[in-house]
Parts: sequence; C-alpha cells; structure tokens
Amino acid sequence: MPTYTFKLNGKAVTTTAPSDMPLLWVLRDKLGITGPKYGCGVGVCRACTSHINGQAAQICTVTIADVAGKNVVTIEGLATNGTLHPVQQAWLDEDVAQCGYCQPGQIMQAAAMLKTNKTPTDTDIDAIMNVCRCGTYCRIRAAIKRAARLM
Ligand code: FES
Ligand code: FES
Repeated sequence: MPTYTFKLNGKAVTTTAPSDMPLLWVLRDKLGITGPKYGCGVGVCRACTSHINGQAAQICTVTIADVAGKNVVTIEGLATNGTLHPVQQAWLDEDVAQCGYCQPGQIMQAAAMLKTNKTPTDTDIDAIMNVCRCGTYCRIRAAIKRAARLM
C-alpha cells in the first residue's frame, strides 16, 4: 500500500492507505480523528466538512492521494493554543447544537466562509448547504453573525 504524508491540524502525519481511500475514513479509522462526521458519503450532507489548504471541503469525496503534501484542518485543529476559534465561541454563546452530529461540519463551513466574507448577509448564510436534521438553522445564522462581530 502506498504511503502518504500531509499536515493534519498543524502536525505532519504519515500513513499507508489505498490511494482511493476517502480522507474521511483515513482520519476516522486510521488516525483517530472523529470530529468530521459521516452522513451521506457522497458530498451532499456536509457533515464531514473540514479545511484543505484553508478551504472548506467535503472529505468523504476527497481521497488520501488528493491531500498528499496538503494542509488539512478538522474541528479538532480549529482552536489555537487553547483558545476557541471565534466561530466555536459564538456557537457556545448562541447554544446552537442540538444532537450535535452536524455541528463540526457547520462550524468548519462557517469558519471558512468568514475568512473571505467578513459581514455575511442572511442570503449568504442561507446559501450554506450543510444539512441539520435537528433544524438549528436559526441559531446557526445568529452564531455566524456573532462570530463575524467577534472577528
Ligand atoms: S458525509 Fe455527507 S458530505 Fe461527506
Ligand atoms: S444538531 Fe442534530 S443534526 Fe444538526
């Protein structure tokens, strides 16, 4: 099996895996990173959303070969030096989570958006396609606006 090296949450990691193994499974099954969740496996629900080279990506549709040499950040790597990312803090302040299953993906999607859009409108936020079966969308909207102010 081929060997791949990439950066994961700030540290270089090396692992062996079939070249077509989805990154989601490499992280969850081989590297013990369980923040990104499995919902659909086909890039629709976005429960697995993480960052690749700073951009939001659905890592169930990205292979381990695709990320060789790249920088991958999951929800586990979003806080810095023990300080929550403003999006994580806003999520807590707005008490967003219900069952919580979709929330790592929601937070990673919001954090990626706020890098380039500092003042998202309701329309911008509603364009986020991450699914929440618990229907926390109103609190997600409030939390993203709160995070934008914090940032
Ligand atoms: S598991 Fe649904 S988009 Fe990745
Ligand atoms: S909080 Fe339950 S699916 Fe979103």
